[in-house]
Amino acid sequence: MGAPEDGQPPVDWDSLTFSFTETDRMFVANGSWDSGWSDGAIIDFQPLQLSPAACVLNYGQGLFEGMKARRTPDGRVTLFRPEMNARRAAEGARRLVMPEIPESMFIRAVKSVTDENRRWVPPHGKGELYLRPILFGSSARLGVSPADEYMFVVFAVPVGPYFKGGMTPISLRVSQNHHRAAPGGSGGVKAIGNYAPGMMPSKRAKSEGYSEIIYLDAVEHRYVEEVGAANFFCVKGETIYTPELTGTILPGITRLSIIELAKSMGLEVIEEKVPIDFALGCDEAFCAGTAAVISPIGSIQHGDVEENFGSVGKTTLALYDRLTGIMGGAIEDPFDWTLEV
Ligand code: PLP
Ligand code: COI
Repeated sequence: MGAPEDGQPPVDWDSLTFSFTETDRMFVANGSWDSGWSDGAIIDFQPLQLSPAACVLNYGQGLFEGMKARRTPDGRVTLFRPEMNARRAAEGARRLVMPEIPESMFIRAVKSVTDENRRWVPPHGKGELYLRPILFGSSARLGVSPADEYMFVVFAVPVGPYFKGGMTPISLRVSQNHHRAAPGGSGGVKAIGNYAPGMMPSKRAKSEGYSEIIYLDAVEHRYVEEVGAANFFCVKGETIYTPELTGTILPGITRLSIIELAKSMGLEVIEEKVPIDFALGCDEAFCAGTAAVISPIGSIQHGDVEENFGSVGKTTLALYDRLTGIMGGAIEDPFDWTLEV
């Protein structure tokens, strides 16, 4: 491994988008049911070598995480609640019969990948360094059963807004023919297999001018589940509503943080099933996730109905300002959510 490269990376900080850029270093650890996890090591960014029969390639035995490192106004670099990603990954590992990554190793890996790619952390307010931990069955398997061997890899990419225009309200369409997850399935964990089936409906909606789709529940096709790869919120008066975690919805760390933050701001938060008709009658709506942060929803098209929410609502804006202020270190973090690298 060479010395970390100094100097400015070849990035125009003013035009970052949510797209892939190769950075300097990544973390790789190998594990197996027999011998547990190796310590892992930082290596130069490079392709992985896998058998064509690797369990992840054939049967999708894998999960990913997503988190961001940010530069504070005084130049420090922090992560946001990384232990929550570690715990969600452990939950996913159990669901997909993979060996869990110990929390201490997960945190060490994301901290060291951030540190080794420090020059790629955008200046404060210009974007973030997105960290992508992945865990998958790496050894060959012909029958459908868990792999013997696993890899845990963390790489990093500098990113800008997930939806074009950042805080510009997005237009969404309710998917009438597709669902993201069914009861008893894997919707509650970040299984890699949850994502490819959404590409076709999402691509279609985008080609028709929408930013993303809203999924309803797979049983009654009545309750809001998620917005593509982000959680859904709507606001009526002083009350915030978000779909309760029923097992088919990903328990977002941004979602949890918004719930905690809103309560601390004196707002009422109700986690329950949210009928789409109720959501359409709300004053404000937004979606939330690591990539999406808080993205205001400007309109929702559902069958013959199109509901317009107008410009960014005051509750959405207040939550956005407070959450991004804490995340980026511009305002004090009373929750102890940020971890310095
Ligand atoms: N829902 C789905 C399906 C996701 O993939 C994500 C992204 O991780 C989220 C919601 C938001 O979760 P988080 O806030 O932890 O990024
Ligand atoms: C995230 O918000 O981190 C996600 O994983 C969403 C998407 C990029 C898959």
